[in-house]
Amino acid sequence: MYLWGGHLGGLSEFTHEFNKSIDFDKVLFQEDIRGSIAHVNMLAKVNILSEEEGKIIRENLRQILLDIKDKKLDIDLNEEDIHSFIENELTKRIGKLGKKLHTARSRNDQCALDLRLYSKKSLNQIKDKLLDLIKAIIEISEDNLDVLMPGFTHMQHAQVTTFSHYIMAYGQMFYRDLLRLESTFERLNENPLGSCALATTSFNIDRFMTSQELGFSKPTENSMDSVSDRDYVLEILFNNSLIMMHLSRLCEELIYYSSSEYSYVKFSDKFSTGSSIMPQKKNPDMAELIRGKTGRVYGDLNTLLVIMKASPLSYNKDFQEDKEPLFDSINTVYNCLKIMKPMLLSLKINKKNMLKSAHKGYLNATDLADYLVNKNIPFREAYKIVGDVVNYAIKVDKALDELDLEIYKKFSDIFDDSLYDFIDLENSLNKRDVYGGPAKKAVKVQIKNLKDKIKNL
Ligand code: ARG
Repeated sequence: MYLWGGHLGGLSEFTHEFNKSIDFDKVLFQEDIRGSIAHVNMLAKVNILSEEEGKIIRENLRQILLDIKDKKLDIDLNEEDIHSFIENELTKRIGKLGKKLHTARSRNDQCALDLRLYSKKSLNQIKDKLLDLIKAIIEISEDNLDVLMPGFTHMQHAQVTTFSHYIMAYGQMFYRDLLRLESTFERLNENPLGSCALATTSFNIDRFMTSQELGFSKPTENSMDSVSDRDYVLEILFNNSLIMMHLSRLCEELIYYSSSEYSYVKFSDKFSTGSSIMPQKKNPDMAELIRGKTGRVYGDLNTLLVIMKASPLSYNKDFQEDKEPLFDSINTVYNCLKIMKPMLLSLKINKKNMLKSAHKGYLNATDLADYLVNKNIPFREAYKIVGDVVNYAIKVDKALDELDLEIYKKFSDIFDDSLYDFIDLENSLNKRDVYGGPAKKAVKVQIKNLKDKIKNL
């Protein structure tokens, strides 16, 4: 049943199919009914509806909500959208009075309202999952403060760090993601209801009342903006893209850290699959899927950016295309976060292999240069001397701590026995107790700070 009838003749079956959004906006039924109840309460309060009329509409809307939840009422997928379905269902139940619900409202502010309510709910759900993940990362970091590993730049062995320091880097990323969600929440927490089609209404409505009932901080400022604003959806899509980027980078590393070449970590069987032909295979499918799904979440962002780019004020039907990318992005990110936490917590950390690997690739070369600098050699000169030592060590296939002092003396007579202590990996690590650094002491500070920051979230 069309909502508009009037002067129009109606759509063909195919154009109706093409036009409708109920197949995907049906998930908004709770938000739609909640919004309608707030609207009705307000209409009754300002005497646009009588007390009695308000009561009947409110009770019937509540019953429709229960009936959908209890599966006593099926959402009719032949309707144009969820808004039409609920209004038509109400009218079926209470007759003419149901047709009063839409006084001083348009589907333009109604769908904007529903989407904001849905976005608020989803942001909070994603926030909870992010928080869970950050807590898991902190736990893993605390458990691995002594696990030395190579730190990489350009994917080449660079300097020594710990698994604890490494994983806390992701703790920081996900914490920033959390802050971004909170900041988006502030901006989206304004109520568009009452903007109507674009120019509000001649009725004396109270937008502050509906704002309060629906948990918004205030009504939106400009009705034309309100019905055509999808910035908050784009912000969510961007925030989600960044969360996925962080998840994907971590997955990428864990995938190759779990390969035979590295063997730094081992995924639990719960997050791995076998091969249909190779009996020995254990594949990190979940991590690969998270990495892969990053592409579709980026795609969702791009879709809406392109939809909005030449959209004139105010509402245009193009905006109906906002929902599928938003729902897809939210569901994908939520599921990926849900998998990531137990996958990380069940990861086996191979301390021995990481340490073995840390002994390769001259991670302590910078320390050797620092050693000379401490003996008053200018850094650039020290850098050159150590470069020559490393070249020599590569030629004779030895680590820096395996070269005799006599050899060192050939490169500079400033070297003495104390160099071995200075370039010892563990010492090299613990000297780096600069704020933010990998030394146990410094990582403990990071952990404490992050714990403090998330304490009241
Ligand atoms: N299904 C529409 C949407 O999601 C609802 C708004 C319809 N408004 C209109 N003027 N046709 O955007």
